[in-house]
Amino acid sequence: MTAWDRHLPDAAATAQAGAALGEAVAAGDVVGLIGDLGAGKTALVQAAVAAVGAPVAATSPTFTLVNEHRGGRLPVYHADLYRIEKARELDEIGLDEIMRRGDGVVFVEWADRFDVLPRDHLRVELMVDGDGRRLRVDGTGPRGQRAAAAWAAALGVLG
Ligand SMILES: Nc1ncnc2c1ncn2[C@@H]1O[C@H](COP(=O)(O)OP(=O)(O)OP(=O)(O)O)[C@@H](O)[C@H]1O
Ligand SMILES: [Mg+2]
Repeated sequence: MTAWDRHLPDAAATAQAGAALGEAVAAGDVVGLIGDLGAGKTALVQAAVAAVGAPVAATSPTFTLVNEHRGGRLPVYHADLYRIEKARELDEIGLDEIMRRGDGVVFVEWADRFDVLPRDHLRVELMVDGDGRRLRVDGTGPRGQRAAAAWAAALGVLG
């Protein structure tokens, strides 16, 4: 399944979804995360980082802009564009270079703030939905679709 959605009733469900995402991603994948403040983007990514087998940093990339997590199955780069105000600042954090290198998986929170993602990526939207969240997943090209399908399989989303 390359486009799917799922209700996440609590934070544990977000962590479970993130863990499955960590199993599904491959080197070169770019994951764009979209959703309001507190929607669960960081929670999802941190669970994915843990599932890749890399240490989860104590700090949110809201302050460091890009966190690198090494020591797992593949390198994980976690960027947060929330505090970036100008396109020029994007060059300074080197996100383009990291995405071009393609040696790991790149997670980008607030991916809709700038036009930074490659055309082919995994789009992840989180929305507050009652007491929980709604997760919407879509692959925008072959690579993103492969990741979306692998994630659905790892999570046991029924087709
Ligand atoms: N499915 C869920 N149901 C209810 N609460 C959840 C769910 N998933 C995560 N949460 C809670 O919502 C909050 C999400 O915070 P998080 O920092 O991950 O959001 P964020 O989208 O990264 O926000 P920001 O845009 O500020 O970076 C946490 O307090 C977490 O426990
Ligand atoms: Mg966040």
